[in-house]
Amino acid sequence: MRIAVVGSGYVGLVAGACFADLGHEVILVDNDQQKLTALRNGEVPIHEKFLPELLGRHRGTRLQFSDDLAEAVRRSSVIFVAVGTPPTESGEADLSYVESVAREISGGIEDYKVIVEKSTVPVYTSDWVRKIILRNGADPDLFDVASNPEFLREGTAVTDFLFPDRIVVGCDSRRAADVLAEVYARMTDGSYYTRAGAIPQPDRAVIPPPLIVTSTKSAELIKHACNAFLAMKISFINAVASVCESVGANVSQVVHGIGTDTRIGQRFLNPGIGYGGSCFPKDVMAFRAVAREHGYDFTLLDAVVRINEEQRQRFVRKVHNALWTIRGKRLAVLGLAFKGGTDDIRESPAIAIIQCLLREGSQITAYDPAAMDRSREVLGDSINYANSAYEAAHNADALLILTEWEEFANLDLSRLRDELKYPIVIDGRNLYDPESIGAQGFTYYSVGRSASHPDGVPAGVIRNGKRA
Ligand code: UDX
Ligand code: UDX
Repeated sequence: MRIAVVGSGYVGLVAGACFADLGHEVILVDNDQQKLTALRNGEVPIHEKFLPELLGRHRGTRLQFSDDLAEAVRRSSVIFVAVGTPPTESGEADLSYVESVAREISGGIEDYKVIVEKSTVPVYTSDWVRKIILRNGADPDLFDVASNPEFLREGTAVTDFLFPDRIVVGCDSRRAADVLAEVYARMTDGSYYTRAGAIPQPDRAVIPPPLIVTSTKSAELIKHACNAFLAMKISFINAVASVCESVGANVSQVVHGIGTDTRIGQRFLNPGIGYGGSCFPKDVMAFRAVAREHGYDFTLLDAVVRINEEQRQRFVRKVHNALWTIRGKRLAVLGLAFKGGTDDIRESPAIAIIQCLLREGSQITAYDPAAMDRSREVLGDSINYANSAYEAAHNADALLILTEWEEFANLDLSRLRDELKYPIVIDGRNLYDPESIGAQGFTYYSVGRSASHPDGVPAGVIRNGKRA
């Protein structure tokens, strides 16, 4: 099939590359000339596993890059819209990019097209997109607007795209549903997965994935409800972690105990410094806003946001508890990205915590395996940047872990201890077992678990009449 993907950001670029790998002819459209030039020259603008491979495989053949949206529409039968939908001041999604793309699309509609929302958009967007396209002169019989939300996570975007739990297609016409079913046919009939050169199957994948066909509005809602639910799961466990801290329970044990209930599940139950990224914060607010606009006061989501914000403050308080005063202290920070496996720092809780600790007068040396360049654009010279975790730790008063990179869970602890001025680790991602790291000579603070001290005795434990 001939497919146009408008917007070559995280979602559009991955979708375009994966559609090409499924065998379609893809035109990736973007209005950012610099980005287009970089893509044409073989650069890969984001850190995403398998993406360089797919772009290399299809660039210039099944994958073309263009800034001419109307022409791309003319040459394609399906147009996926994947431009950004940033939040406005009041938390609603800013749909002006979607609107301007819809206007331009109308100019290229000469035969039947399916216009598909791939960006996360509030319910009713499809109605508006349809109205805008009609207002700009397109024939109502020559197009349908559909919603095909994307559930990919950054860092594992390519495998999430090709091995999804399900494909959701929201259409209000049979014709559009058939076109979208054809787009994904090689996934739903399983033929992609047996092909030589297919991206390797991850552990949990269910193949072939089911195709769920819903109304357009339901599909729009599925995306918002899905992200809001996952954010709620994280805030829930963060709240439970706070209770654990108050009563001296261990949140890891609690997670194991509740997560093994198959109705709840272990995933997205990792407590920490709260969720960040370009989706959860924005989508929870946007879902809240659209519900309110249509008469439902979704107060549960306010609590989700509040708990998430408190989680950062609680972490900063932990730093205080560990170090007493902050001014002039040298802090080593591991992790700048909003989560492991990505170079994205949008809404990163790590950056927010760093900014707070800087305001309190600390000196920070940070290391992140992928997000240093992007962080420099935001933090500039306000912090120092190290080339490794050990370099960051050198002579620091304490080490803070702010991103769940695998690399940070496998540090050489004796080397780390030698580098640090004081062997204090404050872990916002629970990457270590408190007892074993304590036994290695560290004072260790984490989330929802008692602190542990060098002799392996958890803080708070009474031994020989004294509190450890
Ligand atoms: C996507 C989705 O669009 C968003 O709704 C979802 O919640 C998260 O993922 P993302 O891919 O991260 O956003 O956006 P971004 O990286 O900002 O990429 C958007 C691209 O669209 C950019 O390359 C931008 O240049 C391009 N764009 C934007 C256009 O081509 N035309 C426009 O009018 C606006
Ligand atoms: C999310 C959704 O998972 C994805 O389906 C959607 O398409 C886009 O938004 P992403 O933002 O890439 O994906 O990251 P995700 O892996 O969901 O993590 C989001 C945030 O939650 C990160 O800051 C992460 O550190 C945090 N998180 C995640 C936790 O704090 N605990 C967890 O258990 C899981």
